[in-house]
Amino acid sequence: MKRLTVPAIQRRKVDGATAKPVVMLTAYTARMAQLLDPHCDMLLVGDSLGQVIYGLPSTVPVTLEMMAAHGAAVVRGSYHSIVVIDMPFGSYEASPEQAFASAARLLKETGAAAVKLEGGAAMAPTVRFLTERGIPVVGHVGLTPQAINILGSYAARGRSGAEADKIVSDAVALDQAGAFAVVVEGVVEPIAIAVTEAVSAIVIGIGASAQCDGQVLVTEDMLGLFERTARFVKKYENLAGVIETAVKSYSAEVSARSFPSADQTYAPKD
Ligand code: KIV
Ligand code: NA
Repeated sequence: MKRLTVPAIQRRKVDGATAKPVVMLTAYTARMAQLLDPHCDMLLVGDSLGQVIYGLPSTVPVTLEMMAAHGAAVVRGSYHSIVVIDMPFGSYEASPEQAFASAARLLKETGAAAVKLEGGAAMAPTVRFLTERGIPVVGHVGLTPQAINILGSYAARGRSGAEADKIVSDAVALDQAGAFAVVVEGVVEPIAIAVTEAVSAIVIGIGASAQCDGQVLVTEDMLGLFERTARFVKKYENLAGVIETAVKSYSAEVSARSFPSADQTYAPKD
């Protein structure tokens, strides 16, 4: 299996509703990437690793160093999916030049193919600057977690008419600037559909609509590693329960001196 390319993903849009939806999940480690890779089109090294891996309160403290380290691990663990790395807060907003330096570093140090950044029309000049210089960009509109200190909560966006119009016009601005895909997160469904119809970029929904061109979820959320998740997360497993059961058994066997048993111990040669 050859690694998918950005143009191959873009062609899915041309085929419209008959196209195969784009399957995307987050990955932060090599082993998880290995497990997800055969079943995905794109792997996102999301800055959600701030909460999921590092126990941070939001994505705001995540650094370029963290993204580069986990990005390299995910590229090493995959050979089929396009690997997209999130640009962390503070690494791209100041200027297109700052964004290019950060994005180039991520691609050079990891081997990933593309970056993702949050924001709408204000980020369009940056998206154009990067794409014209060889860096494919995924946009991210609607609920943008790096703006938590402005938004005040992770509630769904686009419930008011003015906010809804801005989400659509933001996505159009990113599309016209050359973004090959746009993540639409946490928006009322009609907005997700309007965005999908308005742009030529691939629209990837999360808390959006099944009518988007593809879907993404945080892998640990959909595997049920956390009790509390957003309403839009479907839990396909109960990983927290699986781990708890296993660790309880281990703890009981260690306490009872029944682990390790003969199978797990080395006997001398003669
Ligand atoms: O960081 C992340 O995991 C993301 C997805 C939820 C889209 O940005
Ligand atoms: Na993110």
